[in-house]
Amino acid sequence: MKALVYHGPDQRSWDSVDDPGIIDPGDAIVRIDSSTICGTDLHILKGDVPEVTPGTVLGHEAVGVIEEVGRGVSSFTKGDRVLISCVSSCGRCRFCKEGRYGQCLGGGGWIFGHLIDGLQAEYARVPFADNSVYKVPEGLSDEQVLFLADILPTSYEVGVLNGVVHPGDVVAIVGAGPIGLAAILTAKLFTPGHIVAIDLDDGRLEAARRFGADVTVNNGTKDAVAAVMELTEGLGADVSIEAVGVPDTFELAVDLVRPGGHIANVGVHGKAVTLHLEKLWIRDVTITTGLVDTFSTPQLLKLVASGRLDPTLFATHRFPLGDTMDAYDVFADAARTGALKVVLEGAERIGGVSATAGAVAAAH
Ligand SMILES: NC(=O)c1ccc[n+]([C@@H]2O[C@H](COP(=O)([O-])OP(=O)(O)OC[C@H]3O[C@@H](n4cnc5c(N)ncnc54)[C@H](O)[C@@H]3O)[C@@H](O)[C@H]2O)c1
Ligand SMILES: [Zn+2]
Ligand SMILES: [Zn+2]
Repeated sequence: MKALVYHGPDQRSWDSVDDPGIIDPGDAIVRIDSSTICGTDLHILKGDVPEVTPGTVLGHEAVGVIEEVGRGVSSFTKGDRVLISCVSSCGRCRFCKEGRYGQCLGGGGWIFGHLIDGLQAEYARVPFADNSVYKVPEGLSDEQVLFLADILPTSYEVGVLNGVVHPGDVVAIVGAGPIGLAAILTAKLFTPGHIVAIDLDDGRLEAARRFGADVTVNNGTKDAVAAVMELTEGLGADVSIEAVGVPDTFELAVDLVRPGGHIANVGVHGKAVTLHLEKLWIRDVTITTGLVDTFSTPQLLKLVASGRLDPTLFATHRFPLGDTMDAYDVFADAARTGALKVVLEGAERIGGVSATAGAVAAAH
């Protein structure tokens, strides 16, 4: 089969590799119909995730059809159309029993395109299939559910639920990349009073308005704290969500919140960040961190099926799976291309606009 293979920092290629086969009784083999690229894949290519060894197939988000199941798989059979989650669950360890699948101690957690071969491929081996894939509700296209593999549950669980968004709240979101935009989309489920999106890139702020932010601030040219204070009679936001992952934006997220408010950190931090307890100790704030668990995936699937949540807005570009190399170039150059998520289309995907070979089809 063909797959996108990591060969060390800055090196990737579209290679012929061995077809995956069942190794453990809980495995399923899935034909990948739609896949996508994540910012984390770009981090891996920069060499920031050293556990990924050269030769690994990348990718941790996909929709496909089960081709074969191991003898230990009881909930799925050949022919089932499934969403493959970025987080797998052994189902047996202490953390899986609590729904904290991201922290799985039994060989699950984030493994695709990280510790085992991933999903930017024609086929994939999916361990712990019973606990780690979800049947796609009848009538939904691949693109309607694809982004529930990672960004939607991440922003919903680690941003919106950890931040405890309530109806009427002012929610300030720092960073309007795919994660910040997914936080806007899922914060709206709680009918906040205002959603403020903050970013340095005007293109991303325009996307934030499309997704439902009613106030946008370019913090390169405007004072974001002043803008939020103006909106909240000098108190600050009820909830601030950090969706960038650098020291400045975490400190900004802290400065934006009112006494008693919630700061939900979603960004992955590579550098030490200062927590100003000398200012914060008196303010009753709650700070949360987290890795996505994807416990909310069934709930999000129901919301998509009932038309309450439309993640298809993310699909800005589509490529045949065989053009994954070009898709990486477009995704990595998002400031110029405007890419939010690129869809990698297998020949047998369901629904969505078809792309002619080699061409980029914009969704909007
Ligand atoms: N906790 C988790 O489980 C989890 C899961 C997935 C991703 N993440 C993390 O979430 C973060 C966001 O992911 P993404 O895919 O949206 O990234 P992205 O790089 O596409 O988007 C980041 C956005 O932040 C903006 N930005 C950069 N510096 C800024 C600044 N100083 N002020 C305001 N805006 C600024 C950029 O213009 C961009 O729009 C990353 O750190 C990613 O690793 C966390
Ligand atoms: Zn990801
Ligand atoms: Zn587990």
